[in-house]
Amino acid sequence: MTMADKLLPLIAGNWKMNGLKATARGLARDIAERARTTRLACDIALCPPAPLLVVVADAIEGAPVALGAQDCHPEPFGPHTGDVSAEMLADMGCRYAIVGHSERRAEHGETDALVRKKAAAAHRAGLVAIVCIGETLAERDGGKTIEIVTRQLKGSLPEAAAAANTVVAYEPVWAIGTGRTATAQQIAEVHARIRADAPPDIRILYGGSVNAKNAREILAVKNVNGALIGGASLKADDFWTIVQSVPH
Ligand code: PGA
Repeated sequence: MTMADKLLPLIAGNWKMNGLKATARGLARDIAERARTTRLACDIALCPPAPLLVVVADAIEGAPVALGAQDCHPEPFGPHTGDVSAEMLADMGCRYAIVGHSERRAEHGETDALVRKKAAAAHRAGLVAIVCIGETLAERDGGKTIEIVTRQLKGSLPEAAAAANTVVAYEPVWAIGTGRTATAQQIAEVHARIRADAPPDIRILYGGSVNAKNAREILAVKNVNGALIGGASLKADDFWTIVQSVPH
């Protein structure tokens, strides 16, 4: 990849299990409208729950806003009740799929090996995988952050991972939904390590209680190429303030 191809930072909204048709449509239309009329310094993705993908796809049509999913199954089709394949997501208009979010690792017992298969499935379907990694509070307190993050990164990224098909999201578990963000120094330390270990030029997002107030400082940290936003992505004004906090 040459300098001319350098990817823009990515601001991705992870709506988690929130929204119904009407609210999803309103929020997505609002973001799409702002994106249409602004010179953007970043890529934008909205990742609604699977049943709302079609509603959001419709609402962002023609706008510089991409659609993303929150998970995908490793297999392309088959007897997997309740699951959704990467091919189905691509067919719905998705460009991204989040895989290995800590909530899925914790609530569904997802391992690095499974996350790697899901990322490979995303690639197979032509999607960009947003691979999430991050330590728990006990791991940080035990001085194991770098060890854990390095291990998760190695275990979760498929062979073919590259800047064009993969984004890494560093999300300390203790910072997610808690209002407690990592300090700029903590973020810089982990992102430097990921930068050293990950494929060249890959985008590294920070996630965990990013909001309209702290986004500017976080997005200015070295090796931070955007953010994965949970709670604050559910409010158009807050999400938009974060989009506009990306350094130009
Ligand atoms: P939060 O979630 O912004 O609500 O902390 C981030 C995430 O889990 O992706």
